Amino acid sequence: MCLGTYVRTTIIDKLVLDFVNRHAGFNTPLPTSLSTEATQSATVESPQSPSTPTQPEPSLQYPLPPSTRHKVQIISLGAGTDTRFFRLLQHHPHLAEHLIYHELDFPATTLKKIQAIERHPFVKDLLLTAASRAAATGTSPDSGELCPSGEDLGRTSIRISTDGTNLTLPLYNIHAVDLRDLGRPSSPTSAPPPTLPNLHANIPTLMLSECCLTYLPATTSTALLTHFATTLMPRPTPLEVVMYEPLHPHDVFGKTMRANLASRGISMPGVDAFPDLDAHGRRLSEVLGKGESGQGNTAREDGEQGETGRGKESVESEGWTIKDVWDSMVNVEEKERLRRCEMVDEEEEWVLLAGHYGVIRGWRT
Ligand SMILES: C[S@@+](CC[C@H](N)C(=O)[O-])C[C@H]1O[C@@H](n2cnc3c(N)ncnc32)[C@H](O)[C@@H]1O
Repeated sequence: MCLGTYVRTTIIDKLVLDFVNRHAGFNTPLPTSLSTEATQSATVESPQSPSTPTQPEPSLQYPLPPSTRHKVQIISLGAGTDTRFFRLLQHHPHLAEHLIYHELDFPATTLKKIQAIERHPFVKDLLLTAASRAAATGTSPDSGELCPSGEDLGRTSIRISTDGTNLTLPLYNIHAVDLRDLGRPSSPTSAPPPTLPNLHANIPTLMLSECCLTYLPATTSTALLTHFATTLMPRPTPLEVVMYEPLHPHDVFGKTMRANLASRGISMPGVDAFPDLDAHGRRLSEVLGKGESGQGNTAREDGEQGETGRGKESVESEGWTIKDVWDSMVNVEEKERLRRCEMVDEEEEWVLLAGHYGVIRGWRT
């Protein structure tokens, strides 16, 4: 796996687990790493059996009373073949009682992902076991919206739509959608936006977008985020967004990077409107601040943090380049190990590349 993916996965895993820790009501926080080995299973096309024993569960006082067994919701936009949901459960099986996870992508991608889940016994068993565990707690919100013509795979009522592109379960949902349809303004002549079964409006929610929104025009991605922040998960639901995005398209390295992608037919219209961490932070603050009296704020380069809000309303954002993460969050021994694994000869090039990708986090409380 490439170094950039490792660093990105490490920081986003940490932000996800931080979010879970803040909202799930555990007595003892979960460790905020899913271990280095876990990141090897980067796609469901190459699932790994656990190469290390799963971490022991933290000292939770089970059974927790239902009132303290809080649910958290995670929505992954353009999830592709990402396996974070499975890695979370592999390392923290009891999260099945707390999580509601959604992945959104084009039908062609979701079809392949669902087929991969069905094909790989390790992944499928992990899902079935987690689904049983979630159902056994009796706290799973009842969706009441299962696909009407789905195939019932058995004891946990996983439903897969007849065309194979949607998987529906209270715990885990794969939605085949074009994200552009979700932010489109409704009109009497246009089709209504697609519905997302099992999406809950009032559960603390983390939205993830890893190298996805940059493929959409800026107005479309902002409309999409706004639709989630104001219609699907309106205030006062706590909402957080974590994005991984390319940066600095206008310097020499950025131009070369773009030209290389363009030669492979890949364009990233979003990067012009949001060329740095500041621009991303401002956009997230504006979107998350909608519906409140205060105005948006800014995120600054190098992890600086901005804040706004009046009274109890608060919107904040922060951001790091992948280089910031490498410099400040990966320890010396781990850096050496990774350099050997990756055979990083061109340190200069890696540093340049790492400065051209960033992780931005915005949240409202
Ligand atoms: C570069 S991949 C990233 C996949 C995954 N997030 C990861 O980090 O491994 C971008 C993903 O966004 C999805 N995507 C891009 N535009 C989309 C749209 N309009 N609707 C749904 N999915 C979209 C692509 O199909 C693809 O799976």
